[in-house]
Amino acid sequence: MLALLAAGCATPGTRGALYDDLGGQAGIEKLVGRFIFEIGNDALIRPYFEETDLDRFHEKLTEQICEVSGGPCRYSGDSMVDSHRNMGVTEAHFNQTVDLLIRAMEAEDIPHRVQNRLLAVLAPLREDIIYQ
Ligand code: HEM
Repeated sequence: MLALLAAGCATPGTRGALYDDLGGQAGIEKLVGRFIFEIGNDALIRPYFEETDLDRFHEKLTEQICEVSGGPCRYSGDSMVDSHRNMGVTEAHFNQTVDLLIRAMEAEDIPHRVQNRLLAVLAPLREDIIYQ
């Protein structure tokens, strides 16, 4: 998993295709919905979200994934540093959250090759999220 995240950038020229391979807007909305379900079932990660407006989280994360996968959206949420400030997210909890995203992608039948490409475009955000 870590080696995979460290693998970094998506292959040039595949950005537009990743959005389509995720099922476009509808597919991403569904994936984020499933991710929130997985978070709700996870005793380690759920407590972080106790005070969170989940409708907003759903909307903003959908927008962000749409943008980084080459879709037509522009992310309008807070910066990653601001959104995760004072949470003290550890590396272990970050990795656990990535595992929940993988679980959600599995549940949505997203092929592994497509899963890896989404993880690769999200990986650079890690530094802005942990230990803030
Ligand atoms: C690549 C990994 C991650 C991405 C792409 C991501 C993305 C986001 C986005 C887009 C938002 C919404 C910002 C807004 O409302 O404007 C958000 C909020 C939030 N994130 Fe993350 N996040 C990641 C990892 C994590 C991790 C590891 C945790 C905790 C273990 C976490 C906990 C939260 C919480 C609790 C909120 C809601 C904050 C609030 O209630 O205002 N996130 N995240």
